[in-house]
Amino acid sequence: MSDSNPSARAGDGWHEVAELSQLDPEFPLGVEVEGTKIGIYQCGDAVHALEDICPHAFALMSQGYVEDGVVECPLHGARFEIAGGKCLNEIGQRDLRAYPVRVIDGRIAVKVGG
Ligand code: FES
Repeated sequence: MSDSNPSARAGDGWHEVAELSQLDPEFPLGVEVEGTKIGIYQCGDAVHALEDICPHAFALMSQGYVEDGVVECPLHGARFEIAGGKCLNEIGQRDLRAYPVRVIDGRIAVKVGG
């Protein structure tokens, strides 16, 4: 059996998505894992991964505005805590799903499924 995606070989749900050096605290990184869009955020020393499609309509949260640990949707202003995805205003409708993240040797992995 062959697998063209080396990050998926372990079968434990962890997928390498980026290098730590690619992150910028002001500009989240949008990635896709097995068809799921995920935003990768750097807040101080922490790295967070959140579902990337705004629950209100269709906008990529990773293209939103980041300030003080909060990301704001670029379309209509839904706001979410980056640590955990908690919804902070009514238009956001619900919390964003947060994915487990680990950083090993400067490589960021996100757990999706598994
Ligand atoms: S699409 Fe995000 S607030 Fe409307």
